Amino acid sequence: METDKARVTIFDTTLRDGEQSPGCSMNQQEKVRMAHQLDRLGVDVIEAGFPIASDGDFESVKAIAEVVRRPIIAGLARACEPDIERAWEALRGAAKPRIHVFLATSDIHLQYKLRITRDQCVAQARKAIILAKSLCDDVEFSPEDATRTDPDFLCRVLDAVIEAGATTVNIPDTVGYTVPSEFGELIAMIRRRVKGIDNVTISAHCHNDLGMAVANALAAAAAGARQVECTINGIGERAGNASLEEIVMAMRTRPDRYPYETAVVSEQIFAASQTLSEITGVPVQPNKAITGRNAFAHEAGIHQDGVLKNPLTYEIMTPKSVGVPDSKLVLGKHSGRHALSMRCEQLGYAFDRRALDDIYRRFVRLADKIKHVEDHHLLELIRDTHKPTTSATPLIEPIVPAAAAVVNAPASEPEKAFPMAANAFGAPMPVHGESHHEQTQQEDYLWGV
Ligand code: KIV
Ligand code: ZN
Repeated sequence: METDKARVTIFDTTLRDGEQSPGCSMNQQEKVRMAHQLDRLGVDVIEAGFPIASDGDFESVKAIAEVVRRPIIAGLARACEPDIERAWEALRGAAKPRIHVFLATSDIHLQYKLRITRDQCVAQARKAIILAKSLCDDVEFSPEDATRTDPDFLCRVLDAVIEAGATTVNIPDTVGYTVPSEFGELIAMIRRRVKGIDNVTISAHCHNDLGMAVANALAAAAAGARQVECTINGIGERAGNASLEEIVMAMRTRPDRYPYETAVVSEQIFAASQTLSEITGVPVQPNKAITGRNAFAHEAGIHQDGVLKNPLTYEIMTPKSVGVPDSKLVLGKHSGRHALSMRCEQLGYAFDRRALDDIYRRFVRLADKIKHVEDHHLLELIRDTHKPTTSATPLIEPIVPAAAAVVNAPASEPEKAFPMAANAFGAPMPVHGESHHEQTQQEDYLWGV
């Protein structure tokens, strides 16, 4: 579809900055599973980790680079040779690799952390980018603590790294200190003053210490940034990073104010949020915008009445548009395998016939006891039925179909809709495991019960 909206690149750092938040570390298998979900979500860049940080992180970045082929795969490196070489070693098998180099530029960091002068900082940044560029065409540079850096010096560093070959310059609000009007002005100033800026992408990387990460990222886009760095559920250092789902849905819901296009398949947002929460064991805050369990719940009588008459009264976006399972579909002992499998897919799991049968048997026993099986019961049941083993093949297959295809399936044609899924671009693709099409009539009949 033709559009005159500016395209904003979604750089997801759930697996790097997000993983740095307490309680959110992930092993290789978990990171690969999450990367597949981010791929289905349609993000443009996956920052898969910080390869020099540990052997585990190195192996995770390498594995993701090898199996997730559509998005750009980025690896983080400090501005020094061992980091950059290690990052390249992990990324070299990627279809689209990116080395992301960072070096602090604020006086506070130069003086107390790095103990180097401004001149040394410029020289180090330039040398690092030249090395990264000799290995990889796609190189991003981040002046850490940019929002507390002297603006003249920030421009000097950016001039130098662009001249050295950086293709993206990312402006991090490392400590979540800036506010939207100020951050927008900073991006505008960079666009006015930095040499060669029109030939590179400006990116914004915002932290949420004052609760303004998303607002700051949107202000940056309005000022000309064409990449935003963000995480699922807003996880990240301290108070977290800008939340991907909030940025994307602000752009979708308010195109009058934020006329920007992303490639995100918004119907995959809920599955991404649930997958992350299930992997890390960190629950989503109930009132979290877009992905919290109360985000589309209406408790007050007046609200319920309004929503039943017309959802527009109290809903600015539909639950369906972000892949939130249809709350009208109550799962109980009368529900069949079809409803169960649809709900599992909406939660981020696709099972072949046999695996679903295992879950179904336990589901019916549970439903007999508790009447209504809620999503969290189902997630527990899935976890219990498919405890991780040491075998290389994960028992819980990464979901193949996009929840969007299932959610959007017309209610009157459920049997036909099930086996056809869509990839991140909406193209049809088969479901993993046994094909529903190949089932006998008898099995077809059982599917619905
Ligand atoms: O917050 C930050 O400054 C970072 C950089 C490494 C981009 O995460
Ligand atoms: Zn950060």
